[in-house]
Amino acid sequence: MRIVEAPTHLHFGSLRIEPAVVLAPMAGVTDTVFRRFIRRFSGCGVIMTEFTSSHGVVANHAGPHAKPRRTPFNYLYYEPDEHPIIAQLFGADPQVLADAARIVEDLGFDGVDMNFGCPVKKVVKCNGGSGLLRDLPLVERILKAVRAAVSIPFTCKFRTGWDAKSIVVTQMGRIAEDCGLQGVSLHGRTRQQGYGGRSDWDRIAELKQAVSIPVLGNGDVFSPEDCIRMFCHTGCDGVMIGRAASTNPWIFRQIQQYIATGEYERPTERQRYELLRDYYRTLLADAHKISGSPLGKMKQFATYFTRGMRDGSQLRKRIHRSTSTAQVLDRVEECLAERMARAA
Ligand SMILES: Cc1cc2nc3c(=O)[nH]c(=O)nc-3n(C[C@H](O)[C@H](O)[C@H](O)COP(=O)(O)O)c2cc1C
Repeated sequence: MRIVEAPTHLHFGSLRIEPAVVLAPMAGVTDTVFRRFIRRFSGCGVIMTEFTSSHGVVANHAGPHAKPRRTPFNYLYYEPDEHPIIAQLFGADPQVLADAARIVEDLGFDGVDMNFGCPVKKVVKCNGGSGLLRDLPLVERILKAVRAAVSIPFTCKFRTGWDAKSIVVTQMGRIAEDCGLQGVSLHGRTRQQGYGGRSDWDRIAELKQAVSIPVLGNGDVFSPEDCIRMFCHTGCDGVMIGRAASTNPWIFRQIQQYIATGEYERPTERQRYELLRDYYRTLLADAHKISGSPLGKMKQFATYFTRGMRDGSQLRKRIHRSTSTAQVLDRVEECLAERMARAA
């Protein structure tokens, strides 16, 4: 029996997504190591890669039998237990994007997603990400070219517009639908807002009214209660979660518990320490599968995973002062032992 009403699943074309809650693409966060933790905790219908440069993919693709080079192919590295998984691309050249999408299909991804949301200057300057929201004819050319190139499910993710005076929610949704995309995700902020203000869920409701393909609502879902509010407020087919997952990878499971029982479990202090330690161990074992320095990643994830932890700031400081990956692991073990001794 379900206590809370919410959609159970959705389809992007032939891809069934169950439950109807998905992990947002996050550059520097949703690499293979993090994604496999999300899978391990269960409750997530589909996961997305970090956004990946279409130019990089095409330039580095050395043919089907060559070994993938480090960058950007480690952005597209995934393991079998990550399915279903969608690769996200960015760029502004229809032909290059179509070629990159074909490579994504050949790599065995379950879908390809096009980024029209990235607010970062470096990307926008080359007309990529949210920069494209100012050029809808180019958006249409891109979507048509990619659609013609692949047969796997194809979706796009966008912001509401460049700024408050140029909202393009309905236009973007209709272009996507007319070009044969099988789903859209909307982050309810403009490019100009960055991460300030609030995600405007009314815009997500507007998009849902405007198209008949599935709509994922995104922005400011930080708890199971928020997720249900998003479903109710917008009528969306699925909810996409970003930042909350990086500090609380249990959120997908919590949402399913909440839907089933009206309640959900919160991780214990011990489970939080174990998450940090296990994440670090996996990261070090799989450092060759991701981009960036392992020590840098350890410090980054210390910031995420210690949020809300008792004495979290102390542990965070100790990790940030560490000068080697071994030292970080020692400090986590020390802190865990101290905590357990105090609790005994
Ligand atoms: C660190 C970080 C990296 C992100 N990278 C991407 C990305 O690669 N592609 C993308 O479409 N959105 C990216 N986003 C935006 C998120 O996917 C999402 O739209 C946004 O964070 C709002 O959702 P939230 O409130 O659940 O976090 C990123 C966000 C963050 C915080």
